[in-house]
Amino acid sequence: MPHRIFGNTYDFFMYFLERRFLRARRKRLLSGLTGKILEVGVGTGVNFEHYNPDIEVTGIDPSPYMIPQAEKKRALLLLPNRITLFNIGCGYPEMEKKIVPLSLDAVVCTLVLCTIPNPEKALVNFKKWLKPGGRLVILEHIRSHRKIAGKLQDIFNPVWEKVTEGCQLNRSTDQLLMFSGFRLLREERFNIGIPFYEAEYEKPQSKDE
Ligand SMILES: C[S@@+](CC[C@H](N)C(=O)[O-])C[C@H]1O[C@@H](n2cnc3c(N)ncnc32)[C@H](O)[C@@H]1O
Repeated sequence: MPHRIFGNTYDFFMYFLERRFLRARRKRLLSGLTGKILEVGVGTGVNFEHYNPDIEVTGIDPSPYMIPQAEKKRALLLLPNRITLFNIGCGYPEMEKKIVPLSLDAVVCTLVLCTIPNPEKALVNFKKWLKPGGRLVILEHIRSHRKIAGKLQDIFNPVWEKVTEGCQLNRSTDQLLMFSGFRLLREERFNIGIPFYEAEYEKPQSKDE
């Protein structure tokens, strides 16, 4: 269940990480995107400042405490109308009707594939909604490939997921993506105490690719 405290304190707790490690990566991933974009789990709207003014973003988030924060950040933009927000999540039946197949130029997932309940199904839907050649943009923490570090993430996960509203500290999102049928364009791994993964994928132009 989304909690008021998580939504209201998220930016405060993320401030240092954002400034020092994540902001520049968000900018690099997002500033070149064009066309129609789905941002999954917008949270407090930290990505909004990085989008080009001429794109059209549909932002979703199931937390009623995150959406008002995102609305505040949207209001600060020069063209706030380019971002439409919906208080729903990936996997909700309404989502199926909201996005027309083959209509998206990009899907943006930052720090969210760790939280959504069925990431495999979400990736299948992203592929259905994206146009051929459409982008899947990723910035996620992942499970370590090192045996002991990965085991430690497994051990801490039950506590972590309680504090962070279901975020899975030990999800191998990089492995999920590898077998998702998207084509890898670029990837970078980095560490901020736990391993992180920044990547750009593409929906293949044809089914055979
Ligand atoms: C750790 S926050 C990340 C927020 C933002 N994407 C960022 O980069 O800072 C995870 C977000 O995922 C949202 N979330 C949880 N379940 C979701 C779902 N099924 N579909 C979409 N978003 C979801 C949460 O409400 C929360 O806002």
